[in-house]
Amino acid sequence: MSFRNEPILELRRAPLRESLLEALRSLDERLPLSVPMLVGGDSASGAGFESTDPGRPQRVVAEAARATEADAAAAVEAAQRGFREWSARPAAERAEVLRRAAARLRERRLELAALQVRECAKPWPEADADVCEAIDFLEYYALEALELDRGRDIVQAPGERNTMRYAPRGVAAVIAPWNFPLAIPCGMTAAALAAGNAAVLKPAEQSPGSAGALVDALHEAGVPADALALLPGFGEVGAALVRDPRVHVIAFTGSAPVGLEIVRASSETPDRQPHVKRVVAEMGGKNCVLVDADADLDEAVPGIVHSAFGYAGQKCSAAARVLVHEAIADTLVERLAGAVEVLRVGQASEFATEVPPVIEREAQERVLRYRDLAGDGVVAAAEPVPDEGWFAPPTLVSGLPEDSPVNREEIFGPLLSVTAVRDLDHAAEVVDSLPFALTGGLFSRSPATVERVAARLPVGNLYVNRGITGAMVGRQPFGGNRRSGIGSKAGGPDYLLQFVEPRVVTENTMRHGIPVE
Ligand SMILES: NC(=O)c1ccc[n+]([C@@H]2O[C@H](COP(=O)([O-])OP(=O)(O)OC[C@H]3O[C@@H](n4cnc5c(N)ncnc54)[C@H](O)[C@@H]3O)[C@@H](O)[C@H]2O)c1
Repeated sequence: MSFRNEPILELRRAPLRESLLEALRSLDERLPLSVPMLVGGDSASGAGFESTDPGRPQRVVAEAARATEADAAAAVEAAQRGFREWSARPAAERAEVLRRAAARLRERRLELAALQVRECAKPWPEADADVCEAIDFLEYYALEALELDRGRDIVQAPGERNTMRYAPRGVAAVIAPWNFPLAIPCGMTAAALAAGNAAVLKPAEQSPGSAGALVDALHEAGVPADALALLPGFGEVGAALVRDPRVHVIAFTGSAPVGLEIVRASSETPDRQPHVKRVVAEMGGKNCVLVDADADLDEAVPGIVHSAFGYAGQKCSAAARVLVHEAIADTLVERLAGAVEVLRVGQASEFATEVPPVIEREAQERVLRYRDLAGDGVVAAAEPVPDEGWFAPPTLVSGLPEDSPVNREEIFGPLLSVTAVRDLDHAAEVVDSLPFALTGGLFSRSPATVERVAARLPVGNLYVNRGITGAMVGRQPFGGNRRSGIGSKAGGPDYLLQFVEPRVVTENTMRHGIPVE
């Protein structure tokens, strides 16, 4: 069996667009969704917190139970029981359960895309791609787990047999962000489960509805209730899971400050904890696109604009900076400015929308704060933006000093900064000076330049002569270096290794007599 990416929907087809709008209408009739806390066989709903539509904040999308630190402890306890049962199942059986969950998401894909449109203001193409990526993670890790289960070939010698197998670690705490509300929690949870661990999922507070749908699909597919808990809630629940001595693996995706705090807290190893915790942390970025003097600007301009402003710049892979050769800097800025001014800012539910609102008020304020810091550096913006919803105008800035916070900190919104550089070596020095190293881009027509610059850049994922977002499971294993991450590539062949421990058995096969009973 080989892996193939789930095909995205062809949104240029009118009947398909109509089906998506129908799915949205039908979802709207059911809002607000109720998202319970699921621990063991127990389901608790009731007063908690709400997720709202970023484009119309008075619309409540989901009402979720709010887990407490005590609930986190109960979930880990149940997961310990669940681990015993789930890890005892053959890998092939677990893989089959994950494949059934993928099928369940596939059946519900229109509805799940509609949910992201409402809950996270994800425009249709990105919402659909997110559902496809979630399906991909389930299927890819199911296959990878079978491969891992075979163990590795190691050196043999006469008179002994050596085997190397991988065993699941135990309870995995999965702590997820909101910006890929189905795909990212799905990827981390699927990896933990595929490798035989139990999982306790703490989704982002902004997107409990999507996480609820994921957990439903996994339970319906056959993951035992004890082996997968859902804890809707805020940061303190995540922190309680990180501290819990019964947790073995922490799979986190989110911002660098939270990731670094998790790395620090999880290194505490109290006497009653018989293992050292393993942390997989995928964090933020400050992603640069390098443009050489010989670049094809007809390719570079749309590639950069889509990478910087698609989903309002709220992908971890989004372009935040352009480092352009000074010989063409003025031309590129002029062309980017023209492209930015005509960007369509609007509701995620409208098919023509290129830039939706940002996720919440705090994000809107953050983007506007950085825009103010840019001062006279602002060269273009798509304005005005709608009053209702957390819209932030897509903005292009240029010529800011290298040490400006706009150039060095992750903004996570629709703001792109252009800096002229002497040449690509200078550009590589700038990239090298940043604490982040997630994605990067390079536009150049010289194969020698591509080879030289690619070898120099520390980023985890470099895209050449194309946009820098949209990594595909299996094709572009994804993850950053430096302060952008300490995990090994989601959707790649090394990922599951983080959720298992290797065990080697060496057996003396020289028999000295046979026991007779
Ligand atoms: N590298 C990647 O693959 C990748 C992918 C997506 C998003 N991101 C990054 O995620 C960020 C956006 O997501 P976000 O706003 O949800 O991030 P965030 O760090 O604010 O929150 C992520 C998760 O951590 C939880 N959390 C908060 N404080 C915690 C604590 N002290 N202990 C444990 N858990 C805690 C949150 O409740 C949430 O579930 C951006 O920085 C983006 O670059 C990275």
